[in-house]
Amino acid sequence: MSGTMAHQRRHPGDAISSPPPASSDPSENRQRILTGLRPSGPSHVGHYAGAFSQWLELQNEFESFFLLADYQVSDYAENLPWIRWGLWEVTLDWLGVGLDPERSFFVIESGVPEFAELTLHLSWFLGLGHLQRNPTLKAELADLENKADTVPVAFFNYPVMQVSNILLPLAHLVPVGDDQLPHIEMTRDVAIRFNGRFGETFVVPEGRVGKVPRLVGIDGKGKMGTSAGNAIFLKDSEETLRAKIRSMFTDPKRLRATDPGTVEGNPVFLYHDAFNPNTAEVDDLKTRYRAGTVGDVEVKDRLFDAMNTLLTPIRDRRSYWAERPSDVRDVLQHGTKEMKRRAEPVMARVRTALSLDYLRDGPPQPPEGAP
Ligand code: TRP
Repeated sequence: MSGTMAHQRRHPGDAISSPPPASSDPSENRQRILTGLRPSGPSHVGHYAGAFSQWLELQNEFESFFLLADYQVSDYAENLPWIRWGLWEVTLDWLGVGLDPERSFFVIESGVPEFAELTLHLSWFLGLGHLQRNPTLKAELADLENKADTVPVAFFNYPVMQVSNILLPLAHLVPVGDDQLPHIEMTRDVAIRFNGRFGETFVVPEGRVGKVPRLVGIDGKGKMGTSAGNAIFLKDSEETLRAKIRSMFTDPKRLRATDPGTVEGNPVFLYHDAFNPNTAEVDDLKTRYRAGTVGDVEVKDRLFDAMNTLLTPIRDRRSYWAERPSDVRDVLQHGTKEMKRRAEPVMARVRTALSLDYLRDGPPQPPEGAP
């Protein structure tokens, strides 16, 4: 919050024209985070529980790069207007939850072409077989094949792109949802092999999963998803929040408030566990639910209170930024520029490691066995 206030005092344009803050000195010892999201639309409370809440804590300790992975949105070519909109929405969500652009960097992936260049080089270091064994990729591929009969080549590039996203800023830590762990495993593997073959070039990163790795949707069926029709969005109004919570699935076998109910796996209680900090109240509701002495309505009303308390300041901060589009633009421009500044020397090292500096010396010695 203090960062937002500091930003308020700035003059328009300051974010780009002022020198980078001291924290952006690459020689500094603070460890780095790189994490990100596909900007496919507004973020929901599943993103908050699974990722953003963890990022918020970590940004105090780590120098943080938050990536808007626009290269990674599927149907890229067909969906450009959607991505343009989604990128803006996610940026407002991040500012809303309190990711602090004074301390952290918001990066537009395609604004740093070095990501693409590194992807091309690293794609030689990752076998197709390795990709095909990646469980996250397998699941996504199965999904794609149901919808379309042609899988774009880009689909196989995207995990390599993710490897590049993490390695280029020399990130130490990647806080993500558990579905992303296979990608981080691949990243470590590529970094270790590259370093072994060409000398220390990349940091070998660690993954870290938050306390709620996946949140069920309000329909209780699958994971909450942006376009699954089962999401509570961070920007939802109070009325929308209330209506969505009222409509939530609970224990399907319980018909009356006096029937004993099941708490385990019940979406309303999963949300209480994720969002209600008053654990005494949650324990009491669970006890009474099991005994059949509390109705769904009361359980839901308490959930609404807890979630609304959490979301109100987020909504307010989001509106604050939404009313200042040129400041938002500055934030994106500043973060993207800083990422590029960091990427250039690392990319230069990679080119040298791969002996791409053909013109440095005169004609090379022929290698052994050359005709
Ligand atoms: N694949 C991630 C997602 O689907 C987004 C992402 C892109 C990412 N590059 C990354 C996450 C690097 C962590 C690190 O949301």
